[in-house]
Amino acid sequence: MKLCMIGTGYVGLVSGVCFSDLGNDVICVDKDLHKINDLKKGVIPIYEPGLEELVLKNVKNKRLSFSNNLESSVKKSDIIFICVGTPTKKSGNSADLTQIFSVAKELSKSINKFKIIITKSTVPVTTGDEIEKILKKKNTMNKFSVVSNPEFLREGEAIRDFTYPDRVVIGSNDLKSNKILKNLYSPLIGKGAKYVHTSRRAAELIKYASNAFLATKITFINEIANLCEKTSINVDDIAIGMGLDQRIGSRFLRAGPAYGGSCFPKDTKAIISTADKFQTNLSVIKSVIKSNENRSKLLLKRVYKILNNKIKNKNISFLGVTFKANTDDMRDSSSLTMIPELSKKGALIKYFDPTGYKKDFKKFKNVQYMKSVDSCLAKADLIIIHTEWNDFKSLNFKKLLKNKKTTIYDMRNLYSPNKMIKQNIKYLSVGRSL
Ligand code: UGA
Repeated sequence: MKLCMIGTGYVGLVSGVCFSDLGNDVICVDKDLHKINDLKKGVIPIYEPGLEELVLKNVKNKRLSFSNNLESSVKKSDIIFICVGTPTKKSGNSADLTQIFSVAKELSKSINKFKIIITKSTVPVTTGDEIEKILKKKNTMNKFSVVSNPEFLREGEAIRDFTYPDRVVIGSNDLKSNKILKNLYSPLIGKGAKYVHTSRRAAELIKYASNAFLATKITFINEIANLCEKTSINVDDIAIGMGLDQRIGSRFLRAGPAYGGSCFPKDTKAIISTADKFQTNLSVIKSVIKSNENRSKLLLKRVYKILNNKIKNKNISFLGVTFKANTDDMRDSSSLTMIPELSKKGALIKYFDPTGYKKDFKKFKNVQYMKSVDSCLAKADLIIIHTEWNDFKSLNFKKLLKNKKTTIYDMRNLYSPNKMIKQNIKYLSVGRSL
């Protein structure tokens, strides 16, 4: 099939590349000419394991191309995926749909034959209705169909998540587009993905409800971890014990720092804003947002306690600063709350991240990027394991720590407290000990 992906961010680029790998002809469009030129040269704008190889392979096969000409790319394609950003508005909590509607306006001029227009971006309920209204101004209804097909891939696991999804959700109000899309996704359905056909509005809400639920699950275990710390219980035991109940499930029960990234913080706020619009109180999700916002403050308090409230001139080393492993994404990472706060209090901060230097910390005093784990940890009074990169999972601290008084605060529970005690290493983690 001939597909056009509009927007080459995480969702657009990864799904475009994966669709081409499944044998479709895909044009990825972006108005950022620099990005398009880079992609044409095989330079990938994001860090995502396996993506570069897949781009090169499918460009070579001539199934994947890049363009900044929306009109001609849309005219050549049958199925158009809108994959532009829907960030939180500068004022308030609602999703900023400027990019979505501007693409819809451009699309309305380029519909030369029947096209399925799909929102893959995360969009609030009724956005599909709005897009339909825009397209109708210049086109008759038999020329297009507007569908919601939310994407559930995770950064860092994007290719696997796209290729082996638990489910494919298609929200369409007509049977013709449903049939075409079921066919498009048939290679994934054949490998076990469940195909769910719903109304367009339901598909839009499934995406928000899923992200809000996962955020709730994480926040829940983070709060249970707080109780575990007070009662000398290991939160990992609780997660295993709970997770084995199939109604609960074991995934997304890892206690740690505040959840971050480009989706959970934005989407939990946006669903509240949608609910407000329809005079509905989503009190559980409101509490989740509040609890998560407090989480970084809570972990910081613990850092102050470890350092006896003497933060000035203390050497604090962060291992990992991205919001999770296998991504270079800093959006809403809890390190963006913790590092500035510690820098303000006079700490001397070093950080190492496998994805390199981060400009986010440029304006803060005494925050230095180190090129290796060794140099980062050399003089540390306190080591904070912030991100769960494999690179940090089997470090020989006995060898690495030059200062015997160094404390390790493992915010991802990567190490066994007992093994650390045996090695005489001062070690604290999350939901496991005080
Ligand atoms: C999330 C969802 O998991 C995807 O299904 C969804 O498609 C995506 O948002 C999106 O809407 O585009 P992502 O933001 O890439 O994916 O990352 P996650 O792996 O979900 O992690 C989000 C945050 O939760 C991270 O800060 C992570 O460290 C944290 N987390 C996750 C935990 O603290 N504990 C867990 O058990 C799992």
